[in-house]
Amino acid sequence: MSKCDNIILIGFMGVGKTTVGKLLAQRMGYRFVDVDQVIEKETGLSIPQIFSMYGEGHFRQLEGETIRRVLVHSGIVLATGGGAVMDPANFSFLMENGCVVALDASEETLWERLKSCKDRPMLYSDNPREKMRALLEMRRPVYYKAHFVVQVDGKSPHEVVDEIITMIEVKEEG
Ligand code: S3P
Repeated sequence: MSKCDNIILIGFMGVGKTTVGKLLAQRMGYRFVDVDQVIEKETGLSIPQIFSMYGEGHFRQLEGETIRRVLVHSGIVLATGGGAVMDPANFSFLMENGCVVALDASEETLWERLKSCKDRPMLYSDNPREKMRALLEMRRPVYYKAHFVVQVDGKSPHEVVDEIITMIEVKEEG
């Protein structure tokens, strides 16, 4: 990993990648890009519509293509969807093209944020709480392989951004 020319946020749905990413981009003077928002804009469809019309596989293909296209540039804070790094090729690509920061929260915090959300097709289930727990268990080990991991429980988005900037500065000085 060289300098943090790009900062890539990974982590579970609801952890705050978009909120933190926008603030972080402002503070760094970088451009904020959200992979899901790019996909929605380009297809003219919402993420749930893409899942229901074309299936998860098609969404994952768009996700991988979008990530590669956006990261041709530098000076970007990129917010990725919670499942993007489950493709090992995506994970390697992200690790090679920026500083990867995983945001992590407790299961309770995530559920509080997600329980009334209707726009997360990965949680469409008779038992969304259990689906969330199972996905989290599968994904956390991958999130923890990021260059940096930040716990967000009990912290404001501004505090999380401060922490990320401090970690990056320490790394770049060292
Ligand atoms: C997904 C997370 C979503 C979105 C899609 C799939 C996932 O993004 O990419 O619904 O597999 O965890 P957020 O993490 O921004 O909610």
